[in-house]
Amino acid sequence: MLKYYSIALDDRAPITGDHVDTLLKSLLKAGEPVTYGCGAGNCGACRYVLAQGEVDQKNDSILSASQREAGEILACQCRPLSDLVLQSPTRQQGDPVTLSGQITRVERPTADLVKLRIKLESLLDFEPGQYGLLKTPYGPARPYSFASPGGQPVVEFHIRAVPGGKTGQALYENANRGDPIELTGPMGNAYAKDLNRPICMIATGTGLAPMKSVLARLIQIQHPGPVRLIWGNRSEQDLYEVRAIQAMMDSIDDAKFVQVFSREGACQRVTDVLQSEVPSLMGWTVFCAGNPDMVRDVEGQVALMGLNQENWHADPFTAAED
Ligand SMILES: Cc1cc2nc3c(=O)[nH]c(=O)nc-3n(C[C@H](O)[C@H](O)[C@H](O)COP(=O)(O)OP(=O)(O)OC[C@H]3O[C@@H](n4cnc5c(N)ncnc54)[C@H](O)[C@@H]3O)c2cc1C
Ligand code: FES
Repeated sequence: MLKYYSIALDDRAPITGDHVDTLLKSLLKAGEPVTYGCGAGNCGACRYVLAQGEVDQKNDSILSASQREAGEILACQCRPLSDLVLQSPTRQQGDPVTLSGQITRVERPTADLVKLRIKLESLLDFEPGQYGLLKTPYGPARPYSFASPGGQPVVEFHIRAVPGGKTGQALYENANRGDPIELTGPMGNAYAKDLNRPICMIATGTGLAPMKSVLARLIQIQHPGPVRLIWGNRSEQDLYEVRAIQAMMDSIDDAKFVQVFSREGACQRVTDVLQSEVPSLMGWTVFCAGNPDMVRDVEGQVALMGLNQENWHADPFTAAED
């Protein structure tokens, strides 16, 4: 039998949640103005201070010791065990902000991929590898990785039209120049503070987007290499931006762009070529983004290849809860 609890957020009227739904799900169902991103405990966007009550928290590993001491919890990882009072955490520099903007360019380079360029009302600073929560007129808000570098008037996203998906498909079919958007960001911890090391980037599908942002930064800091980019797709039909990415790689001295296809030719996955492209990852930094199963497999493999855990920066593209 469901147990019901009241959940009060800041000074808003309490809503009712149950012991099965996460706090995030209950708040979203009730139409509360919550900030969230991955829905999977990876980004920290749904942090709240638990001012009163008790929760059952699955995973709070993304929170720092000081955030835990301050009573912060992740709404996407908690279920109520009593009536709750939640408070929005004090915002600090670098915390997500919500900006409005307009789509300035729409491209559909493949049968299921739409590229959007968006002009924001003001500049948004972010690190390559971070992402934003994009709300368009088409479907629920979704997290998408920035494909462009931070601090520029226009941001770029690469969005897959997942068959039957609520947002990607609708965006692919309907997005237009001039459409209004809201973007909340930056979010995510899959970025490196120190890029002056050998860099290996591993992506599948639209996981290429954050790698393009990383590459732009590497070029900006005149990274001497080595830089490796391994990009997996189902077949050649999924390819986009190959020339642009190759040109970016060519401007770095020791850089190599490798593409593999899981459903044609040698039928290879990124994990099949990683070891031959980079025999040891000792001293390297690794970025990985895309399919969550791929990210998990790569994480297991790089640990055996000498990579220090603190130099692993991953964004599994987990699907949202709604
Ligand atoms: C941190 C982060 C960054 C992300 N960055 C990007 C990005 O740059 N580009 C991008 O395209 N996506 C990105 N995603 C994924 C994106 O947020 C959506 O989850 C995804 O696009 C599906 O949303 P949807 O509304 O189209 O489908 P939904 O309505 O959410 O899903 C419909 C169904 O499709 C399944 N599904 C979801 N994703 C996939 C998939 N990739 N392949 C097959 N089935 C799937 C779901 O499990 C569900 O059953 C990111 C996700 C996270 C957490
Ligand atoms: S950690 Fe909760 S939405 Fe990402």
